[in-house]
Parts: sequence; structure tokens; C-alpha cells
Amino acid sequence: MSRIAYVNGRYIRHADAAVHIEDRGYQFGDGIYEVITVINGKLYDCDGHMARLTRSLAEISLDNPLTEDVLMLVMTRLVRMNALKHGTIYLQITRGVARRDHKFPANAKSAIVMTVKHMRLAGRQHEAGVKAIIVDDLRWARRDIKTIQLLPNCLAKQAAAEQGAYEAIMVMPDGSVSEGSSSNVWILTHDNQLVTRPASHDILNGITRQSIEKIAKKRQISVEFRTFDTAEMLAAKEVFVTSATSLATAITQIDEHMIADGKVGEIAHALRADYLASPQ
Ligand code: PDD
Repeated sequence: MSRIAYVNGRYIRHADAAVHIEDRGYQFGDGIYEVITVINGKLYDCDGHMARLTRSLAEISLDNPLTEDVLMLVMTRLVRMNALKHGTIYLQITRGVARRDHKFPANAKSAIVMTVKHMRLAGRQHEAGVKAIIVDDLRWARRDIKTIQLLPNCLAKQAAAEQGAYEAIMVMPDGSVSEGSSSNVWILTHDNQLVTRPASHDILNGITRQSIEKIAKKRQISVEFRTFDTAEMLAAKEVFVTSATSLATAITQIDEHMIADGKVGEIAHALRADYLASPQ
């Protein structure tokens, strides 16, 4: 069965789906996106993703071409048309097509595309834990907006891949850990406190992390929002990352340092299991 994509109001065979070469997303990275996880055909964390989408759009003065109700309908339909059991929905809105000029076009008509990706759930769970590397955070000052401009993230992820690692953990000039190239970073201290960076312009406030926070609280694990440096992270009892694609994934090695003796931590494992079992 061929994959079906959604492009500006039309459902099109994935292989034939295309946008104009003067789309501002293509030329300037002038757009925003969301990735929504689908497990057993169910969309996870939809309210959170819709709320962040609205926020990202407002932050760059971009109109949503669809109402939230219609967006939901299209996503549900794409899941059905693609017989998507486990995977992700990718949703992108750009400022549309205009003659190349940095300033916004006078009559911009935003463009929207959605694609789906099938994934094996087992592959996404990373049961055995994964390796990460540490890299400098080279990004701009508004990482809280989920823009499609991801070159520093791509460079970081490529560096990780070249070293046989799953994720690159980014560190800011002040020595604090910001986040992963496509995930949020958590540590568990030796007195069993979860720590993750507070939401600010420095990081993308992950929707998965907001659900994981709720799950942790239900388990009576306290969550502290504060910064931490690489030394504290390397000495932590557990380290894990969260995102729509990695869910909650234990980090068992960072560069040459083993974390939790190279085993998946108990808390990371439990939080991931709870998250999978209770779609938010
Ligand atoms: N990325 N931080 C960054 C830089 C991210 O790109 C992502 C997600 C997250 C986690 O956000 P969430 O929990 O809402 O997925 C944090 C997606 C998955 C991507 O770019 O593919």
C-alpha cells in the first residue's frame, strides 16, 4: 500500500506529494512543525501538541490555515488511510509561496503538509538503552519555538550517528545542559529526584516531558526544574531523554562514561512503561 500525504487540502500519494520551489519553508526555514506519536493507532498527547502548535504559530506571526477541529480530522483520516499502527504524524506549516524576499509577503497564504511514518514499536522503545555524546549547543536564542530550522540539530545528530550514538546532548556556553538534538534530557539524582531544565527560551518544552512529569508525580517521584551541568549528569543515577519519537529512552553511555553501570535505569523503564500504557 502506498503512503498517503496531506498537502494543502488534498490527500496525495506520498511519492507524488510536492510543494512549490518558492515555498518560504524551503527557502528561509520560515515555518513551524509538530511530531505526534501514534501507538496502536492512537494519537498521543494531542492537546499538548495542538497547544504548542498554536503558540509556535503566534510567536512567528503565522496563520494556521486549518482550525484545530479540521486538523484533528485530517490527522485521524491520515492514520486510517495509511493503516498506521505505530509511528508518527509530521505536520508542517510554512508562510507559503512568494517571490523570494526576506520580509513577510503582503498576502501570505500559509501552506500545510502532513506525512506519516511507520515505526516498529520495539525499535522505538530502545529497551536496552542508548549511547549519547556531548556537543556544543550552536542554536539561536528562541529554541522554545518549534521551527523547521534545524541545521544545528542535524549537525549534532549526525555527529552522534558518526560515533555510533543515538542522541547528541547539547551544552550551552555556561556549561549547562540544554537538551538533546531532538529530545529533552532528564537526570535522576542519587536521592531519587528527577531533574530537568525549566521551560524557557533555551529549550523546546517537550510535550512528552510534560506527560512524563505528570506520570512521575503519580508515582510520587518529585520533579525539580533546574539546570544541571555535564559533571552532574555524568554522575547521575540515571539519565534519560523524552520525545515523541523516543518516548522515554534510557541513556546508558555518554561519550566514554557508563551511566547506571550501562543498564537501563529502573525509573526510566517504569516511566516509559506507564507512558505507553496510558495515552494522554
Ligand atoms: N523533536 N527538544 C527538541 C530540540 C526536539 O526536537 C524535540 C522533539 C523535543 C521533545 O519534544 P516532544 O516531547 O514534544 O516530542 C525536545 C521531534 C520529535 C522531532 O524533531 O522529530
